[in-house]
Amino acid sequence: MSTPPQSSTPHPSFLKGSSQLATAGALAGVALPHVHAAGSDQLSVALIGCGGRGGGAASNAMNQSGPPKLVAMADVFEHRLKSSYETLKRRHKDQVDVPEDRKFIGFDAYKGAMDCLKKGDVAIFTTPLAFRWVHFKYAIEKGLNVFMEKPLTADGPTSRRMLKLADEASAKKLKVGVGLKSRHSRALQELHKRIQDGEIGDITMLRGYRMQGPIGSAFSPKWPGTPSELMWQISRFHSFLWASGGGFSDFCIHHVDHLCWMKNAWPVKAQAVGARTFRASPDGTPYVDQNFDSYAVEYTFEDGAKMYMNGRNMLGATPIYASFAHGTKGMAIVSKQGDCGRPSSTYRSQNPVNESLIWKSKENKDGSVDDPFLNEWAALVDAIRNDKPFNEAASGVYASAVTSMGRYAAHTGQEITLEEFLNHEHEYAPNADKFTFESPAPVQADKDGKYPVPQPGIKTKREY
Ligand SMILES: NC(=O)c1ccc[n+]([C@@H]2O[C@H](COP(=O)([O-])OP(=O)(O)OC[C@H]3O[C@@H](n4cnc5c(N)ncnc54)[C@H](O)[C@@H]3O)[C@@H](O)[C@H]2O)c1
Repeated sequence: MSTPPQSSTPHPSFLKGSSQLATAGALAGVALPHVHAAGSDQLSVALIGCGGRGGGAASNAMNQSGPPKLVAMADVFEHRLKSSYETLKRRHKDQVDVPEDRKFIGFDAYKGAMDCLKKGDVAIFTTPLAFRWVHFKYAIEKGLNVFMEKPLTADGPTSRRMLKLADEASAKKLKVGVGLKSRHSRALQELHKRIQDGEIGDITMLRGYRMQGPIGSAFSPKWPGTPSELMWQISRFHSFLWASGGGFSDFCIHHVDHLCWMKNAWPVKAQAVGARTFRASPDGTPYVDQNFDSYAVEYTFEDGAKMYMNGRNMLGATPIYASFAHGTKGMAIVSKQGDCGRPSSTYRSQNPVNESLIWKSKENKDGSVDDPFLNEWAALVDAIRNDKPFNEAASGVYASAVTSMGRYAAHTGQEITLEEFLNHEHEYAPNADKFTFESPAPVQADKDGKYPVPQPGIKTKREY
């Protein structure tokens, strides 16, 4: 069975400076106050970004053996931290140990929260992606292990930065988990092995569909004037490419990632079509965000194989949320429903019909199924406790960049290579490490309250 492209993901030669590592000396940690004495077996975690997924990830962490404790929390909105704290305290009474002086609010709150950890503890990053590199850099300086949510980047400059940080984390033997949970689904792991063993032949085509009504904060009406424009954009991060990579990146990355994993390769280029049909809500309220509502991306691999990723957020259109792999000897249902929903299955034909079924993933004997959200934490905690190599950051950056490359192709109407995308100079949230509550938002509304939108064929060198 081939090794999944995780920490071992090679950096392509075209990636300028990607193999340069910062010197260990420059990153040497200094002694800082923390909750538990160094050498203690107690694993502590700090949550940075106390929203929906943050609460989920912290809970997943506390469900691991040990069990780990949550000792600090950080957010830019006090009400988000407060409600997350209350929910987590209700669920994990004895493991949530976050007194008032370990709750941090603001753009530098991440430092306060990470300063409460000792070397070898885990920092959880579940903010919108714009802040990943900022938080990851600090965690590496402090010798902390990391769990960070997908996507990791939306543009070329931050992808390059994160790849360097991934190298630095490996050099310090830090363990880094990324929330691309498909890779920790037992069904997809078995399917991956079967595909590597040749069960459906050589992979020639992959297909992913994330087609549904409007979800998350992808479509936004005008900024209401409060909170500040920056804070409003953060709270509606799916609407803004700088914050999230937009709906395509945020929603489609799981399929892009696990399909590339099945192929054991990243595509080298993409072309795409995409458009926005509806620019108002059903009741007529105009939308001002940066997303299209339809994307159809064709990715090409080095060997000529194709991967198609279709993303749509449209009411009334047929919903499909599944992924498939086709080979020279048959096909596979990778995700039957959802990001990585079982059962996965393989077939002797190009149609998933029962007569040609080879294999179908099974439930556990008691009828339960494993939870990839828990599995990914189990893998991270096991790597920490047993000092096993574990760094999913580079793979997570490639998954993010490949997804973004497809979005970029749709937004510009141009074919783009992965090399061009990774070496692009447009950074969408420059100075994300220097934001304050008073900072201007990275994209500004025009006189009608609208934000810059992609114009394929007109704006061809940048997305907006
Ligand atoms: N793996 C998965 O299946 C999965 C599922 C859902 C979300 N996610 C990912 O998790 C991330 C968060 O998504 P969510 O749905 O929880 O969003 P959310 O809005 O519910 O939570 C984000 C939180 O981060 C806070 N925040 C924003 N900027 C911050 C900063 N600079 N410092 C500290 N806190 C900050 C926000 O105030 C908010 O509380 C996204 O990247 C998303 O793609 C992954």
